[in-house]
Amino acid sequence: MTDSQPTPERIMQLINGYWTTAIVGAAAKHSLFTHLDAGADTAGRLAERADISERGTQTLLDGLVSLGLVELRDGGYRNTPEASAFLVEGRPAGLTSFATLKLPQMCVMADLPDVVEAGGPVTDPAVEVADNPHWAEVVPAIAAQSVPVAKIAAETLRLAEAGDVSILDVGGGSGIYSAIWLGLNPTARATQLDWGPVNTIARRLVAEHGVADRFSCVDGDFHTTDFGTDTYDVAVYSHIAHQEGPEDNIELFSKLRSALKPGGTLVVCDYVVENDRSGPPFPLIFATEMLMKSKQGSTWRRADYRSWLTKAGFDDVSFQSTPAPATLIFAR
Ligand SMILES: C[S@@+](CC[C@H](N)C(=O)[O-])C[C@H]1O[C@@H](n2cnc3c(N)ncnc32)[C@H](O)[C@@H]1O
Repeated sequence: MTDSQPTPERIMQLINGYWTTAIVGAAAKHSLFTHLDAGADTAGRLAERADISERGTQTLLDGLVSLGLVELRDGGYRNTPEASAFLVEGRPAGLTSFATLKLPQMCVMADLPDVVEAGGPVTDPAVEVADNPHWAEVVPAIAAQSVPVAKIAAETLRLAEAGDVSILDVGGGSGIYSAIWLGLNPTARATQLDWGPVNTIARRLVAEHGVADRFSCVDGDFHTTDFGTDTYDVAVYSHIAHQEGPEDNIELFSKLRSALKPGGTLVVCDYVVENDRSGPPFPLIFATEMLMKSKQGSTWRRADYRSWLTKAGFDDVSFQSTPAPATLIFAR
């Protein structure tokens, strides 16, 4: 055997990938990262604080050390800087609810061979169902991921200094874009279009940010709701394009172009793949999620966005990478 010969180790890790989802999700659910951050540093102390078994706690700690999320020093456990930044409850970019949200997904993903055969969802469709309670679970859990991206977009648009602007957020979910942007600009106003139960969640989050007086919602399906004409300075379409097929994206971009005032800007945020579908890794793998959950969604190429936005009447399209796996697209 030479050094260059392949070994099965990485493939074993990939095959057992569900261990990672389960261990991170279970640790998040029992607040282990939060208790570690507060100083509990042995299996016994953590088990007591989390009110779970010591055997279970020790097993989770072993798994977390293996995954590089917890380290062992002088007989005591502590979070790595990465776990401390993203897995302790209450952090602005926290991912604990996202980690617990993914636990039941392990069972759902067992349908993937059938979904691949059929070319779309075989049970439990998520995207095409009106008022699907799925979204009320998803949107609070993903809000933190949009925080840095919404701030980057605001800087690019110089939104804080833009004065009395009006904003439309289509499928705004948690309301995180409105919460951040209205916080940065004290005279801006925002309208969010989403399903009624999701808008209730958004009103709560926007109120927590102290800007509810300049926020309004329209309940409904964005495919059939009128967006108005020459009404908005900025429109947002964040993490929507991947659930829609090409025709619907073109139609929604056209409605957004008409809803924007002349010179207004559409901000699209999504997991965008290279034109030859060679990367980046996260957007490529996210296409599986859309195959499972939507009839026509996928992760779309830069060339797709450029062509659809041009067809919809935008003549200036630019892309901006972010530290998150998402790309921002600005269309005027
Ligand atoms: C993946 S979330 C994105 C939320 C938010 N834009 C963000 O980036 O965090 C998709 C959002 O679109 C909403 N949505 C999906 N299909 C919709 C439709 N046909 N009409 C209205 N809202 C819809 C969902 O309720 C959810 O809030």
